[in-house]
Amino acid sequence: MDTILSGMRPTGHLHLGNYFGALTNFIKMQNDFNCYFFIADYHMLTTHPNPSDLQDNVRIILSEYLASGLDADKATIYVQSMVPEVSELYMYLNMITYVGELERTSAFKEKVRQNPNNVNAGLLTYPTLMAADILLHRATKVPVGKDQQQHLEMTRNIAERFNRMYGVDYFPLPVAFNFEGELVKIPSLDGNGKMSKSYGEKATVYLTDEGNVLKKKIMSAKTDEGPQSMNSPKSIEIENLFSLLKLVSSEDTVKHFEDAYADCSIRYGDLKKQLLADMDAFLQPIRERIKEIYSDKAYLDKVIAIGTQKARLSAQKTLKEVREIIGFSPVMQ
Ligand code: ADP
Ligand code: TRP
Repeated sequence: MDTILSGMRPTGHLHLGNYFGALTNFIKMQNDFNCYFFIADYHMLTTHPNPSDLQDNVRIILSEYLASGLDADKATIYVQSMVPEVSELYMYLNMITYVGELERTSAFKEKVRQNPNNVNAGLLTYPTLMAADILLHRATKVPVGKDQQQHLEMTRNIAERFNRMYGVDYFPLPVAFNFEGELVKIPSLDGNGKMSKSYGEKATVYLTDEGNVLKKKIMSAKTDEGPQSMNSPKSIEIENLFSLLKLVSSEDTVKHFEDAYADCSIRYGDLKKQLLADMDAFLQPIRERIKEIYSDKAYLDKVIAIGTQKARLSAQKTLKEVREIIGFSPVMQ
């Protein structure tokens, strides 16, 4: 049976990109597969968060995972730093990962551009740690958004190299995966690339957004001067608004605005008002569940304790086998 694994860094609240790009994609598989979902707090250290932020962010993201429908009875949910076996595998994998291939990663180049004063070795080896996360449970499918595709390609290269160097067929070669088919990229509200917390806070909708905050973001979404002729193609900004509408509105609503666009009768103000109403209705139950779950610390601690135990069992088995393959003497174990 396929093993599915995914995770996210605890960087604050989840946004629609995280939700539709990775989380729901994963949630749809939790009934039928062996699933692991984790909080990548080791990865956070590449940007030096302070200790109290790190702890609260883990609680926030865990509450948001669960409120979105991640089921602790079905999937193994854990915190990366509580399964320290991953750091040993990371070290072994670093021995077979070339600095040149790490330097060519687009996410690394982007981080260097954004923050030239903090180009630490952990940032460079981020993809090796990600490969260790995935290979730790010998996962085969990794539900993530399109931006993570290159990291998965590196994981496959590293796994393949390990198998070749040691003459084994031990690690499966995992793929970036979307349950529905294509990997997705949820657009930002300002017409500028993907929705992301790193760029354009004001154009990013969080699962916790409500009231005026949500209204302001949606009503100030970028538009254009309107369709100039019947059936004219849409600009990127308008295409993005339609993509968001498709996520939260009924087919009839989408069709109504598609038709209005095609015959040039559309009013973008109406489109945004509808998007706001449907988005708010979509988020409302999730927001309530987040508040409830976040305040139940005992429940969150229990979820983590159970998840950690299950994840460590799987991790320890892999590490034992990896040490044998590498050739360490049994006495060393
Ligand atoms: P951010 O870009 O806000 O920092 P992350 O890099 O932490 O988000 O992404 C966490 C997960 O959510 C990853 O699997 C990533 O592919 C997915 N994701 C983030 N933004 C989007 C988006 N706009 N569209 C699709 N998936 C996304
Ligand atoms: N790099 C991923 C991100 O930025 C987070 C992550 C770390 C991850 N390890 C992983 C995702 C393993 C999937 C599998 O979102």
